Amino acid sequence: MELIEGIRNRRSIRKFTDAEVTKEQIEEIVDIARFSPSWKNSQSVRYMLITDKALKDKIAEEGVMGFEWNTGIIKGAPALVLILTVDKRAGYERDGSESTSKGEHWQSFDAGIAAETFCLAAYAKGLGTVILGVYDEAKVSEMTGVPEGQKISALIPIGVPAEEPEVPKRKGVADLLTVK
Ligand SMILES: Cc1cc2nc3c(=O)[nH]c(=O)nc-3n(C[C@H](O)[C@H](O)[C@H](O)COP(=O)(O)O)c2cc1C
Repeated sequence: MELIEGIRNRRSIRKFTDAEVTKEQIEEIVDIARFSPSWKNSQSVRYMLITDKALKDKIAEEGVMGFEWNTGIIKGAPALVLILTVDKRAGYERDGSESTSKGEHWQSFDAGIAAETFCLAAYAKGLGTVILGVYDEAKVSEMTGVPEGQKISALIPIGVPAEEPEVPKRKGVADLLTVK
């Protein structure tokens, strides 16, 4: 798929068919997402695939701070991917000191790049995704056994799309670009 076409046409998908998503499919997507740029090539982003229905439903019901919109999306998706990041890598020196004045900022920055690359790769392979930011990090970490020293940067339900959403309104270039 052409890159620009993919960037323009990828949409957040919140309704999925019942078709299963396999570990092999997610491996293929991570095999692309791993080429995302990262702070000093620190590659601190990790991916956790959850296909176990009971665990996925528990996250949907107890891990989204009561935001039922997200409960429905996660329950209706055949699989859920957690975007994780290893602490104190992006934005930090080897001795643990901050490389810039922006502290943990770069950890989320790298996670965001990886998340979008993951979503674009999934789209190219016929799978729909949506990045979810409304979740209870402590609860989901505990439920899923996120390793010590890692954070959850986003939840991404994934599956075969069962909808074709319109493009949500986008600002024009004139609103976005300043030239000096
Ligand atoms: C950081 C982030 C957090 C988001 N959190 C949610 C969420 O909790 N629930 C949801 O339905 N969509 C969520 N979205 C999806 C956005 O609503 C969506 O990307 C936006 O409306 C643009 O639509 P598009 O992705 O189809 O272009 C999130 C997106 C991002 C990047």
